[in-house]
Amino acid sequence: MQVAVDGPASSGKSTISKILASEFSLIYLDTGAMYRAGAYLKLKYKIIGEPFYELLRRTDFIFVGAGKPFVLKSPNRREDVSAAIRTPEVTAATSDVAADGEVRRILTAKQQKIAEGADIIMDGRDIGTVVLPNADIKFFLIASSEERARRRTIEWRVQGKNVIYEDVLKDISERDKHDISRENAPLKKAPDAKEIDTTLLTIDEVVEIMRVCIREIAG
Ligand code: CDP
Repeated sequence: MQVAVDGPASSGKSTISKILASEFSLIYLDTGAMYRAGAYLKLKYKIIGEPFYELLRRTDFIFVGAGKPFVLKSPNRREDVSAAIRTPEVTAATSDVAADGEVRRILTAKQQKIAEGADIIMDGRDIGTVVLPNADIKFFLIASSEERARRRTIEWRVQGKNVIYEDVLKDISERDKHDISRENAPLKKAPDAKEIDTTLLTIDEVVEIMRVCIREIAG
């Protein structure tokens, strides 16, 4: 079974996908982490154009398990980048990298290869529209920008980062605009996706709605 979960930043995709992955014994693939890793590699090696694409092509993305280390393996080395890809610097650089058509071609191919014949739940921006257009079930999670900024602010603060709500709201709004308006695989609801507005719902409530839908198709 293939489940696609798309939506804007902090709409709850990854938290919910991890829970459903464990309940339905699905592989969980966080495609945002792959774009973040692309931005991380670009910042780290400061290369652009073909050398960067080549590095990306030759990099293996290894998810050790939901919520566990995310490792990059370039030909001769392994590197746990789970924390490094979540910094504000990498987050800010990710939108541009994700808008690059060649980066998307490379990462989409890798994502489709991982999904081949697998029972998988994948979250991102273009899963239902581009990566898994034939997914068995598609969800599109939304929430107001204010609620999403509130969630992200709490998340950063729990991690000890002293962020200001207004800055987080601005960052999220800019990222949304970028993701929606880009030419390549923009953030868009697939026509056959179920839209869920999570603004006033708890994680458990959203999971319950999705669980019922998945059970229906799982039989
Ligand atoms: O966790 P958060 O919602 O902040 O973002 P993410 O899922 O980690 O994705 C980070 C960025 O990667 C997004 O803002 C998009 O620009 C990009 N992305 C994408 O373009 N396509 C995907 N399938 C997943 C992420």
